[in-house]
Amino acid sequence: MATTEATSRTGYRLGFTSQDEETRADRLPVAGEVPAWLTGALVRVTPALLDVGGRRVAHWFDGLAMLNRFGFADGQVSYGSRFIESRAYEGAKEGELRHGGFATDPCRSIFKRVQQVFSPDITDNPNVNLARIGERYIAMTETPMPVEFDAETLKTLGHVEYADKLKAHVTTAHPHHNRERDELVNYVARFSRVSEYVLYGLPAGGASRRVIARMPVKEPAYMHAFGMSGSYLILAEYPLRVNPLKLAFSGKPFIENYTWRGDEPVKFQVFERATGRHRGTYETDGFFCFHHVNAFERGGELVLDLCAYEDATVIDSLYLDETGPRGKLPPAQLRRYTVDLEGGAVRSEPLADGSLELPRIDYGRRNTRDYSYAYFTGSGEDWIDRLVKVDVRGGTRSEWSEDGCYPGEPVFVREPGTEAEDAGVVLSVVLDARSGRSFLLVLDAGSFEEIARAEAPHHIPFGFHGQFFK
Ligand code: CO
Repeated sequence: MATTEATSRTGYRLGFTSQDEETRADRLPVAGEVPAWLTGALVRVTPALLDVGGRRVAHWFDGLAMLNRFGFADGQVSYGSRFIESRAYEGAKEGELRHGGFATDPCRSIFKRVQQVFSPDITDNPNVNLARIGERYIAMTETPMPVEFDAETLKTLGHVEYADKLKAHVTTAHPHHNRERDELVNYVARFSRVSEYVLYGLPAGGASRRVIARMPVKEPAYMHAFGMSGSYLILAEYPLRVNPLKLAFSGKPFIENYTWRGDEPVKFQVFERATGRHRGTYETDGFFCFHHVNAFERGGELVLDLCAYEDATVIDSLYLDETGPRGKLPPAQLRRYTVDLEGGAVRSEPLADGSLELPRIDYGRRNTRDYSYAYFTGSGEDWIDRLVKVDVRGGTRSEWSEDGCYPGEPVFVREPGTEAEDAGVVLSVVLDARSGRSFLLVLDAGSFEEIARAEAPHHIPFGFHGQFFK
């Protein structure tokens, strides 16, 4: 039937429908068998509230953050969801988008013309990613105002306060973890006449950020993530740049102040982790990227794997209309850049076919090291409709997909006491457009076949990232 076909082509749009219900369920219906060794919780953050005071947020990245928690114990799965009580959410509850965001204009009064990134009224809606630092759990966006939460109850505990004087306007929600020092590693950009990037480490249990490296920059690039190898931190400056002097009074939403300069190169800025010394700037043809997959050194070379777009139109494609994204997702290629650190040459090669995003690896054991397996979402004709495992050494891939199902980021969890890189499970929250609900999918990471699913009581709007916390 024509209607069925039409429904199935657009079924994913349910993932862009607000979910304002906060839920608790001690036991979800499970089909299949959840491994008994799987103990802990997959906690994800999602832009769940996309309509505020009768107005739709302009962009997917601006929905109000809700935490979703799937708890695992003895083969059973529990579920809970709760909004993060940020200032932005407080405003939203009163029907106001007071803080704007990535691409949404705030309700701005005449006295508030200054770009919010420079004001104390900056958005604190942490809808992008989560991290654990020592015993603290934080939710993050790209303004440097992480929000701490209780990973069991999902209760909001407040903003993380720093004891240092590091000035920052933007950051990433993709920090790295320095295993040796037990530090969260991230970068911030400070906008000024001469702006700068600052790479820092935040020790577990500490409140003062340790500056690792600083680099002045005239027009900072938009960077959603960065790379870390054994010896280096890597900022990949895409030619999507902002003039900070124009930013302040442009009156435009944050990201619209950045301009794409397709004829300019990407610059890999490589810093030594141990000393902060700038090792070099390595240029290659322009591309855009949100997510680094992994980085490691091999001989005198630095290997950078990432999901590369031709240009930055992916940002434009994710503006929302009443039912979903306005544009069509452009393809993202899993690509390897190999940098000759001494000679300066950069070469690139695709590692697999298909449009791959939201990469995950066995981070704890393989980040900064040569590796075999990465897990991704894959896009079909209309939207993300499959999960893909890639053997980056051989280029072979396995896929999971099901009719009417739209999965999110695949999170790898290692089976304790095992050696194989892909011994464990891959967890993903999948929207089932047929039932109108989401379910938690458990794949065997080795075979990439389903071993269990647990059905949530309602649909969960599409989100970006989450973490498995033991
Ligand atoms: Co991201």
